[in-house]
Amino acid sequence: MTGSPAVPGVLGVPWSTGVRRRADGAVEVGGVAVADLAATHGTPAYVLDEADFRARARGYRTAFATAFAEVGTGVDVYYAGKALLTVAVARWAREEGLRVDTASGGELAVALRAGVPGAEIGLHGNNKSDDEILAALDAGVGRIIVDSLVEVDRVAALAASRGVVAPVMVRVTTGVHAGGHEYISTAHEDQKFGLSVNRGALDGEAGDPPALRALLAVVARPELHLLGIHSHIGSQILDPAGFEAAARVVLRLRAELAERTGVLVDEVDLGGGYGIAYLPGEVPLDPDRIAKDVAGAVAAVCAELGTPLPRISIEPGRAVVGPAGLTLYTVGTVKPVALDDGRVRTYVSVDGGMSDNIRPALYEAQYHAELVGRTSDAEPVLARVVGKHCESGDILVHEVMLPGDVRAGDLLAVAATGAYGRSMASNYNLLTRPPVVAVADGASRVLVRRETVDDLLALDLG
Ligand code: LLP
Repeated sequence: MTGSPAVPGVLGVPWSTGVRRRADGAVEVGGVAVADLAATHGTPAYVLDEADFRARARGYRTAFATAFAEVGTGVDVYYAGKALLTVAVARWAREEGLRVDTASGGELAVALRAGVPGAEIGLHGNNKSDDEILAALDAGVGRIIVDSLVEVDRVAALAASRGVVAPVMVRVTTGVHAGGHEYISTAHEDQKFGLSVNRGALDGEAGDPPALRALLAVVARPELHLLGIHSHIGSQILDPAGFEAAARVVLRLRAELAERTGVLVDEVDLGGGYGIAYLPGEVPLDPDRIAKDVAGAVAAVCAELGTPLPRISIEPGRAVVGPAGLTLYTVGTVKPVALDDGRVRTYVSVDGGMSDNIRPALYEAQYHAELVGRTSDAEPVLARVVGKHCESGDILVHEVMLPGDVRAGDLLAVAATGAYGRSMASNYNLLTRPPVVAVADGASRVLVRRETVDDLLALDLG
């Protein structure tokens, strides 16, 4: 559990592949000592291991391209920018052969600033504004994923106003429930995303389900070009069965649409959601394995239905950037607290908190932390890493063993914070958001600078 007494070498899961402990006990990432990172950039800081990000992006692309080539079709991998999007990150994704999936005008703007061609960008959202849809049309995005019946009409009208034909996919909910916390599982019925494939789900009458109605509506609109069907079943999924089940449902719907209209859509998007390891000993989804399983399922269902294979796309976010990131903090107050069961828990406060990582508070997400600035032979103690916010739920790591001599000034790193850390960060208690620092080949570079109090004051017009 603990990093001390420290053994030199790669730290392994859940750390990025570039994290290792040197013989002198100091930890480095991407060839840069964390103490140097702290001295140069301050703490807290999000640290991104560029080589690790690139390797995972490549890993997903290669695994899926290979598995689907074997069954006879192609794959596009879209990096889900909601996990973490900066201009450099979007560039890395593109350089590794990925496209970019965006979920707002802001994400779209960053992808475009990075030079990602519009044709390689998708726009999602259950409540897109007219401005967002127009920005997407003006950028010539490759696809707008429509999420409701009313949106079919809105996108069509806006496309007409620009004199273009909008390429769209329809996001459907398959009823497959998968993934971690309820808040991050998205394909069950009682939530806001997508259109149900279940008959009569809307009005209790026998009739076309909302998903099919939307597909028929798109086919009927000359301002829209129906590219395909989209399904995203949830996030932090560790059991591949959900992807296969969802693929089955989507492929049947595709066949039904073809029967009804003669339109056999070219593409099926199976979304993201590939789970990662957050704790030592956890086993992440293996992209080669999952790609083979899903390709096999897609091929089998298409053979059963007698339909040609569609082109497939996927949208991994967390699995590409999550393990590549760690957050570096400086320890402040250390306080032992007696528990009811007689144990003692050492509360280790750091200089960030729920404003830089809301996931433990929001989803009870578990993380792992280690002291990274020094080694220690002190007996490990049961510790909880907490932030500096005015809230008792401000917890970063619920339970971890840390050396008993952990003290103010120590550097502490939390592993696997690359996804949904910075992207969900806030200014709670008017803390300034930490920088995003990339490390590669022994050098560090700021991708997004630290916010300052002046930044906060500049927004406040008095
Ligand atoms: N595609 C769509 C349509 C999505 O809605 C999502 C995530 C993804 C792709 C990427 O999923 P990933 O591969 O990263 O699991 N804030 C939560 C996760 C919310 C995910 C929302 N949608 C968390 O911190 O766990």
